Amino acid sequence: MKAINAMLAVVVASCCFIAVSIAQESTSDLEDRIKPVGKVKIAGAAPEASASAGPRSGEDIYKAACTACHAVGVLGAPKTQVAADWQPRLDEKGYDLVWKNAIDGINAMPAMGTCGDCSNDDIKAAIDYMIEGI
Ligand code: HEC
Repeated sequence: MKAINAMLAVVVASCCFIAVSIAQESTSDLEDRIKPVGKVKIAGAAPEASASAGPRSGEDIYKAACTACHAVGVLGAPKTQVAADWQPRLDEKGYDLVWKNAIDGINAMPAMGTCGDCSNDDIKAAIDYMIEGI
């Protein structure tokens, strides 16, 4: 009987050990799963791409809203960073009118370039990205 009790104790102890190690493993899995999705943004730090409001770079906005037409020139859209497409517009209308036309829409160019949550300054940043180096 004593031997059986001792064996039982060993079996129970090893069960507990296994249970504890499983519990530890799933704790770290759980920590992974519940870790915060966002990170704190420090003023002056490079902005991260995100769907939430807050500072976004012109490139982020461009990639989210403008690239579909402006990458290849759909419906005659001036192509991104192609001087021959942009320079005549900038010379003829001036930067501010080009910016205003992007806000209000012009011909096949939809108002705000379809970016529903963009501010006027976001549109400006996206334009600045598209004419970078021109
Ligand atoms: C559905 C396609 C489409 C999308 C999306 C789009 N554009 Fe355009 N965009 C055009 C077309 C077409 C033109 C040329 C319009 C014209 O001059 O006839 C244009 C022209 C422009 C111009 C020049 C305006 C002028 O006065 O010459 C700017 C600036 C511009 N787009 C900015 C943007 C920005 C910024 C975005 C994204 C936020 C964007 N567009 C998204 C189609 C698009």
